Amino acid sequence: MPPTTSDRPADWWRQAVVYQVYPRSFRDLDGDGLGDIAGVTERLPYLQRLGVDAVWLSPFYPSALADGGYDVDDHRDVDPRLGTLEQFDDMVAEAHGRGIKVIVDIVPNHTSDRHAWFQEALASPPGSPARDRYVFRDGTGPDGSRPPSDWMSHFGGPAWTRVPDGQWYLHLFAQEQPDLNWAAPEVRADFLDTLRFWSDRGVDGFRVDVAHALAKDLSEPLRNYGGVHPDALTELPIDGSHPLFDRDEVHEIFREWRKVLDSYDPPRSAVAEAWVTTSRRVLYARPDELGQAFNFEFLVSPWSAEQFRVEIDGALSAAAAAGASATWVLSNHDVVRHRSRYALPAGTDLNGWLLSGGTTPEPDDEVGLRRARAATLLMLALPGSAYVYQGEELGLPEVADLAPEVLQDPIWARTGRVEKGRDGCRVPLPWTRTGPSFGFGGAHPWLPQPAGFGELSAEAQDGVEGSTLELYRAALRLRRELGGDESLQWVDAGPTALTHVLHLRRSTGWASVTNLSAADVALPAGEVVLTSGPLGDGTLPPDTTVWLRPAAS
Ligand code: NOJ
Repeated sequence: MPPTTSDRPADWWRQAVVYQVYPRSFRDLDGDGLGDIAGVTERLPYLQRLGVDAVWLSPFYPSALADGGYDVDDHRDVDPRLGTLEQFDDMVAEAHGRGIKVIVDIVPNHTSDRHAWFQEALASPPGSPARDRYVFRDGTGPDGSRPPSDWMSHFGGPAWTRVPDGQWYLHLFAQEQPDLNWAAPEVRADFLDTLRFWSDRGVDGFRVDVAHALAKDLSEPLRNYGGVHPDALTELPIDGSHPLFDRDEVHEIFREWRKVLDSYDPPRSAVAEAWVTTSRRVLYARPDELGQAFNFEFLVSPWSAEQFRVEIDGALSAAAAAGASATWVLSNHDVVRHRSRYALPAGTDLNGWLLSGGTTPEPDDEVGLRRARAATLLMLALPGSAYVYQGEELGLPEVADLAPEVLQDPIWARTGRVEKGRDGCRVPLPWTRTGPSFGFGGAHPWLPQPAGFGELSAEAQDGVEGSTLELYRAALRLRRELGGDESLQWVDAGPTALTHVLHLRRSTGWASVTNLSAADVALPAGEVVLTSGPLGDGTLPPDTTVWLRPAAS
């Protein structure tokens, strides 16, 4: 019996492989152009065969889609275009029957402007309790016609919008996403109810959107910060002193959440989306808070053995010190897909590249795919949880040439068409070689797919030796079989900066070796169990990862 991560069923999430479904782009069973819940249910056998431990569904709640569903009208319902609560329950039951856990997205920083609370706030006078659930303020300047502070929206433009009676409301994202006031007891209580609502329906865990923004310093006068967002991974103060992000008080909120999550058997898991530096990030992941927090430093690391090692060591030791388990992400619905990132020269301005329609600089797709596969095997060899974004198992590239008129991401319009946004990683999945929308669903998917998508479809790769889909399937199966605790040991052939090789060993004895140099390196001893690309004669070629088991003596 190979040793596994933990025998406690309650700890299933500590080293899970979680597959992110972006529901509107996954599978459109009713053919209306938008993916749906029934489509997820239909594809559970595919996910089971892929070997994932859990699915995380991005928001499927009623929404006008001003921000791809992260503008939530009602946190406790299903968008009628995506299905019903009954269909959601069926999906959960079917997933559980197949040994797959279900994680849902919780969006506590804001609601949509169509939410009953916000409608009530608009219909209520300044100073009313209904307005106090959000952040309404009088403007500045002689007639209050200037925003209350210089705070900017992440999506461009001021973070304040004026309402007809002259007050302004805060929205750190689109104007259709008014920020909630987490100092209001009713807001706090309501989210506890939402956690209970989904937990009662059998949901196993939660992904917490913009966890680091809930607690804000709204004392008067509001503190300007110079009108530019700090880069959250590198520039946010680490003492919690920013008025909007990563304030220490935010942890009280998650300690309250943990009590609710722990009132279930098994306790519900949670993972924070907090774009903050490692030392601050793990605070969200403490056992009395959420348990995990996404590590984005691994994702933004350049293709460098030294840098990857710094990120891996930093994440593992910080997680261990906090009593959390580490997390790894290469792609998600907010970033350029990793196959395309790795196809571009180091330091490429990704937005500039998107604006050029994916032509300048010219990506080297072959290198991109090779590195993406190698990075994936490296990620899946690490202790902790790996979050896999739908379509990366097909090796999908970013769709960089979407025409301006089809773009849906609010970033495009709000930045005055300066930032192209995130639509290119959200294009509906290709399931079949041919046919309407390559098997996604109806003839008119909500974002157009590129002509060659069918060749990357699940159908085209199924059973094909060496395909990216088969690589993921094999990797997930082996990862489970080979096991290992949450520790990692480096096998040093010399300083990583000089060898450009990442050779790590897990507690059960198996090893992963990635060659990030430009030349072949000698293949270490051991039985090869999986490789991201062809091996040479006793050598590991550049941009390749191999998994090794100790050779039988
Ligand atoms: C983070 C989500 O991942 C992103 O897609 C969304 O736009 C913002 N939070 C706002 O909810």
